[in-house]
Amino acid sequence: MRTIKTSVLVVGAGPAGLTASALLARDGIDTITVTKYQGTANSPRAHITNQRSVEVFRDLGIEDRVRELATPHHLMGNNVWATSFAGQEFARLMTWGTGISRKADYEAASPCEMCNAPQHILEPVILEAAQEAGADIRFSTELVEISQDEEGVLATVRERTTGAEYAIRAQYVIGADGGRSTVAWQLGFTFDGEAGLGAAVNVWLEADLTKYTAHRPGALYWMCRPGNDYWVGSGTFICVKPWTEWVMLFMYDPADGDPDLSEEALLARAHTTIGDPDVDVKIKAVSRWEINHIVAEEYRKGRAFLVGDAAHRHPPANGLGSNTSVQDSYNLAWKLSAVVRGLAGPELLDSYHQERQPVGRQVVDRALKSVQDMLPISQALGFRPGQSAEEGWAGLEELLSDSDAGQKRRRELREAVELQNYQFNCHGVELGQRYTSGAVIDDGTPYPPFERDPELYYHPTTHPGASLPHAWLQHGTERVSTLDLAGGGKFSLLTGIGGEPWLEAAQKVAEDLGIDLEAHGIGQRCTYEDALGDWARVREIADRGCLLVRPDRHIAWRSHDLPADPEHELRRALEVILARG
Ligand code: FDA
Repeated sequence: MRTIKTSVLVVGAGPAGLTASALLARDGIDTITVTKYQGTANSPRAHITNQRSVEVFRDLGIEDRVRELATPHHLMGNNVWATSFAGQEFARLMTWGTGISRKADYEAASPCEMCNAPQHILEPVILEAAQEAGADIRFSTELVEISQDEEGVLATVRERTTGAEYAIRAQYVIGADGGRSTVAWQLGFTFDGEAGLGAAVNVWLEADLTKYTAHRPGALYWMCRPGNDYWVGSGTFICVKPWTEWVMLFMYDPADGDPDLSEEALLARAHTTIGDPDVDVKIKAVSRWEINHIVAEEYRKGRAFLVGDAAHRHPPANGLGSNTSVQDSYNLAWKLSAVVRGLAGPELLDSYHQERQPVGRQVVDRALKSVQDMLPISQALGFRPGQSAEEGWAGLEELLSDSDAGQKRRRELREAVELQNYQFNCHGVELGQRYTSGAVIDDGTPYPPFERDPELYYHPTTHPGASLPHAWLQHGTERVSTLDLAGGGKFSLLTGIGGEPWLEAAQKVAEDLGIDLEAHGIGQRCTYEDALGDWARVREIADRGCLLVRPDRHIAWRSHDLPADPEHELRRALEVILARG
């Protein structure tokens, strides 16, 4: 069999695989990406794109392209609970930081806005970035067999159009091959958790709902209609394209048998949920998926790494599916790139598991808890398993009645909706990943204590392991973020007034170690002005101190002040982080 060689084999071209391909191609790493399907995602699937992911796209130079195609943040906000689009609304929550009490938190945390970018829209943009950077992406090419030894991995792939097989020998493999990962299965990765906790159907459809949504624009509309389902009513509508394209999502219990997915049944369900028989509905595609609560116990096994759904599978609550996948690859790509180029020791790769597995654990637990936390809404609406539609409607009547019972239940409903902040305004979970690993040098100081709920609120800090805080800076007439001074596949060093020795040290150490390291001064008469003083407020170091930032914009090391020999200190830090023993 024909064998071709490459440095990195990426299996899968979903959000995780495409991000890895784009980043590795940008660094000039010889990479082959194979994906069994003939193109990118053919349906909307995941859609909520959080600030950290948009920051990755900003780093890849595609933030504007994503924003052009996605539904913008200001149209994502209203989360509506009602009997139908035309029917009675019960509750509303402003989500994703669009509400008056959360707007400033989201704006202060990042130069990037969240957006609603369904997968079939997002993936082609990442693909384009990868191909522009020269990535070799092979569609209709399925991994059929994979093994590894001390020197590398050996994969057999099949071209699905011709049936021809060939072998790929690579130094490393990234398993980005989704929830049924062949890489994970054949290389013996082990998982913790449970599969099949629930089942769902996604119906992608066209229906002009402008008159029911334009005045309360949002990403999610929860239609709670008595008697339809064993769970929260007849369907959740996810906005794909305002206000004419949707995914109607509904849950079913496999124990009750297969749901009726005939066109007639789905149209009837859509019309009931919309509550207006005159709305024209056209079904585009139907797919099923399962609720899982699973995380890989190890993210690395020898020369193989799992990213994305291959490593973690969980419900869509909190919108963390493709976001976590993109961010896994952002963490792994620079490390593989450094090791393949001989700039770091292979021990650096251990930090991928050390840093991302706890994130995966947190994400699957949070997502499942958020699903469970929706039960109080059903309960406050008076929905009970097995009740008839009449009983359900009577329960809703009571909820809206001028009675003590109605008043009590309305209070319970408000509390239940309040709890949904842990799903829809969960900024700490969205942005607050902090790493402890061999690729971070702890400075012996504790993290600053959380001032607010760590799940709901993001707490920026420059403690090593945290992500670089965002602050707007002035560069001539241009406004740039501190995040723009980092990333780009390079290490960065940030210092301030009096930190010139760091700038010289950075140049010297970068030359000696052969790495990309850019150093920037921030402060009056430095290259970047901290005009608003926001950076001074968050940086937690003296003007003459420095932060060493990794290519994934996490803080690797910091020096609170200027030491006697900054070059020595910086060199030592980089040697430790890059495992250059
Ligand atoms: P992803 O599954 O996207 O990609 C896997 C890739 O691996 C594909 O390119 C595939 O071709 C390739 N592949 C698999 N096996 C291969 C093999 N043997 N050889 C070669 N290539 C192979 N999430 C969410 O947050 N909100 C939501 O509403 C939904 N809805 C939803 C609906 C449906 C129908 C699905 C299937 C999934 C969702 N999800 C979701 C989950 C979300 O889509 C998921 O978290 C991300 O796509 C994960 O991205 P990955 O890149 O890890 O895998």
